[in-house]
Amino acid sequence: MAIFQGIEHVAVFSTDTTRLRDWYVSNLDMKVILDNGAGVYFLLMGNGSMIELVPCAGPSVCAGKPQVKDSGLRHIALTVDTQDFGAAVHRLSEAGVETIGKTPHQFPEGLATFHFRDPDGNILHLISRPNRLSLAVVPRLADAPKDALIQGIEHTCIIANDPEALRQWYIDALGFQLIVRDDGHGTAFVLGADGSSIIEFIQAENNIGVEPYKAQGIRHIAIRIGQADAAQGAARLKALGVEVLEDYKALDNGVHLFFFRDPEGNVLHLVGRSQPLAK
Ligand SMILES: [Fe+2]
Ligand SMILES: [Fe+2]
Repeated sequence: MAIFQGIEHVAVFSTDTTRLRDWYVSNLDMKVILDNGAGVYFLLMGNGSMIELVPCAGPSVCAGKPQVKDSGLRHIALTVDTQDFGAAVHRLSEAGVETIGKTPHQFPEGLATFHFRDPDGNILHLISRPNRLSLAVVPRLADAPKDALIQGIEHTCIIANDPEALRQWYIDALGFQLIVRDDGHGTAFVLGADGSSIIEFIQAENNIGVEPYKAQGIRHIAIRIGQADAAQGAARLKALGVEVLEDYKALDNGVHLFFFRDPEGNVLHLVGRSQPLAK
């Protein structure tokens, strides 16, 4: 069994996590499952994926708003059933979301996308595919929101200066496997050992450099690891020479953590818990 299991959550840092929380809950069908009382919220979606909202001091380091092809952890794609795509786009349009480019877009092969921004300017998109990328059975979590139109994260996108080298690093270091080399639109996808976590890699057009660890925006991808494997996982990554942001530690509440950067400076962390956050 692979020790690096897949994505546990994606973290979004914000100067107003309460506003973002309310917006995600009412527009994106997410449910608050953890509130630490200090502005950190965990939001759960129908397919079991989670977003963590974390308070930060300053606004985005991207000049203005992040652009679609700016390097870094750049967008989160949310999956909708094909028959629900129109209704989801309609609802977001009625809510007055800022859209990006010419959207929605229907591709000949049946793929449909809708690009928009959350109130902080983070790039999100809806995606519906005739054939799902992941064939994993969606976990039926008792905590998950019911009857959600928007089902949860399909993939998280990294805009890379060298997408082939970077995706190979995720394969070699973190046990992802390549599932789509080129989807016909210049992108590649890798799948985590859990059979459901997907990262997309796209060529950057604008290298904005390494962003601070806790700047506003889509800021880190958390990799799930068994609590008993966390120390070993951190040691393995350190042996590969990753830049360490917060060294391995076991917190009093039973959470084991290790924060580091991938070779292009994107923030990742290992998280091992005694109990899963969502049940
Ligand atoms: Fe996190
Ligand atoms: Fe994408």
